[in-house]
Amino acid sequence: MYRTHDCGALRLTDLNSTVTLSGWVQISRDLGGLTFVDLRDRYGITQLVFNMDTDAALCEHARKLGREFVIQVTGTVQERSNKNPNRPTGDIEIEVATLKVLNSSKTPPFTIETDTDGGDDLRLKYRYLDIRREPLQRNLRFRSKVTIETRKYLDQQEFVEIETPCLIKSTPEGARDFVVPSRMNPGEFYALPQSPQTFKQILMVAGMDRYFQIVKCFRDEDLRADRQPEFSQIDCEMAFVTREDILNTFEGLTKHLYKELNGITLPDFPRMSYDDAMRLYGSDKPDLRFDMAFEELNDLGQGRGFGIFDGAQLIAGICAKGVADQWSNKELNDLTDWVKRPQIGAQGLVYVRFNTDGTIKSTVGKFFDDEALRGWGERFGAGPGDVLLVLSGETDKVRKQLGELRLEVGRRLGLMTPGVVKPLWVLDFPLLEWDDDTNRFYAMHHPFTAPKPEEIDKMNSNDREVLKGLHADAYDLVINGVEIGGGSIRIHDRALQSKNFSLLGFTPEEAEAQFGFLLGAFEYGAPPHGGIAFGLDRLCAVMNGQNNIRDYIAFPKNNMGRDMMIDAPSRIDQGQLDELGLDVRVRE
Ligand code: AMO
Repeated sequence: MYRTHDCGALRLTDLNSTVTLSGWVQISRDLGGLTFVDLRDRYGITQLVFNMDTDAALCEHARKLGREFVIQVTGTVQERSNKNPNRPTGDIEIEVATLKVLNSSKTPPFTIETDTDGGDDLRLKYRYLDIRREPLQRNLRFRSKVTIETRKYLDQQEFVEIETPCLIKSTPEGARDFVVPSRMNPGEFYALPQSPQTFKQILMVAGMDRYFQIVKCFRDEDLRADRQPEFSQIDCEMAFVTREDILNTFEGLTKHLYKELNGITLPDFPRMSYDDAMRLYGSDKPDLRFDMAFEELNDLGQGRGFGIFDGAQLIAGICAKGVADQWSNKELNDLTDWVKRPQIGAQGLVYVRFNTDGTIKSTVGKFFDDEALRGWGERFGAGPGDVLLVLSGETDKVRKQLGELRLEVGRRLGLMTPGVVKPLWVLDFPLLEWDDDTNRFYAMHHPFTAPKPEEIDKMNSNDREVLKGLHADAYDLVINGVEIGGGSIRIHDRALQSKNFSLLGFTPEEAEAQFGFLLGAFEYGAPPHGGIAFGLDRLCAVMNGQNNIRDYIAFPKNNMGRDMMIDAPSRIDQGQLDELGLDVRVRE
């Protein structure tokens, strides 16, 4: 028997019992007559003590233990004279009688403690050491609980968990596919699924009614803190449902997870149209932990001789409350430089400072007198101490830039309060997105998303502007400014699906070649259906107030899409290439 208890179990109530523990040496401290060792496993840390007076040889042995040695000890539980209130086992220690080294360890390349000194790539290379650290242990346990609670909840709602294949034909979710060559079909490739979208719709045609899967998805896109090439979805589809059924079911799931895992009871989620989200927050995923909604100023800003405003499609701003005394001109100039960076791309920033002494200072004071500026202030409900930040230019660009500025101001003022949870349903996304570079429309969500029923007629228009204005029955769940999930009511009618493909620039032949299986299925009694997918990794991170999803994935890729531990991707040998019928010239 390796252990009678784990390293987090023992308390004062166990005094004088003889116990056996196994684990890793976290640290060992030699105090002359006594040697202390912290023994760690998944469950906690227990202090071991070796006494020179009782057993000198044993104490000598203990002194030689290196960090991360795996040991087994037997001893007696005793009360600590120097208690550690920060540890559940901090009242006791084990006076060791026997010590066995189960395995030695090289000195680890970084400290295995909550705050480590290891850099990102080093920690990914030695992921097994990183995972020994408490934060990662906790995160992976949290993720496990999320999936278990998700299964419980969806099972109660009659969802059936069904696996769909990983070797498939490309699904168009907007990113590039990872492809896999087929040995038995030379020159042909499978694609790894960007999502199980078409399969889950086919399962609705197949009468499964409620499907879910916790599933790996693969997208070859540029990586960020909240994006991995290989990530997981809680993927669902339901038949004979309206949008309302889907929102209620998945709002219910989200509330269930917050209640069970975080002990938080969430009130009903507010809803906002995509158009309002863009108009008020310049983003389809507004962070509602603070308000600072946009106000538009075209009527007040134009016709006063300020050329930049006069030539602008939109003049809009935000109000930073109570910062006039706190923000010197230097800070405001700094924000101006911030919005002018190429990543944001604004031409400049106009500000109006309503000082607490009643004076008003503005970068455009030459064109707008105090009375005019007070008029601006009224629009924002601004008072003494507030500062208005205003941008102008092309509507879409101004909204995006101001959206970024709003978040930056929120960050600088510490308005994204930890622990606050602000979910939001964003509804009625545009159906189509025009791309100037390729001169064609793309599906904003994916090509199977249904238009709003009242706008179907407009799909026959030849006017690009009319088509740009079409809305879809598509929705996203946003929590604290992070897109957690997205879904839609689907098209279940073959003719409408064909129409949508034609708007997306597919000829009937191309649509048939790529999606004939789905169009064919639609001819055999496809029920009305819809669904949603949550990003599991993002959900776990956001539920813990974090944004780096890597910390919730056991073996993630680095920013270059590399697995640093197994060193993938890697070259394959010529024999393998030949067998796959691939004529790849390896560049040195
Ligand atoms: P969508 O593309 O919006 O919808 O994806 C759903 C959710 O998956 C998460 N996500 C990601 N997480 C980590 N890394 C990535 N690279 C990544 N890409 C997406 C996000 C996102 O909201 N088939 C549709 C769903 C449907 O219509 O039912 C789909 O995949 O949290």
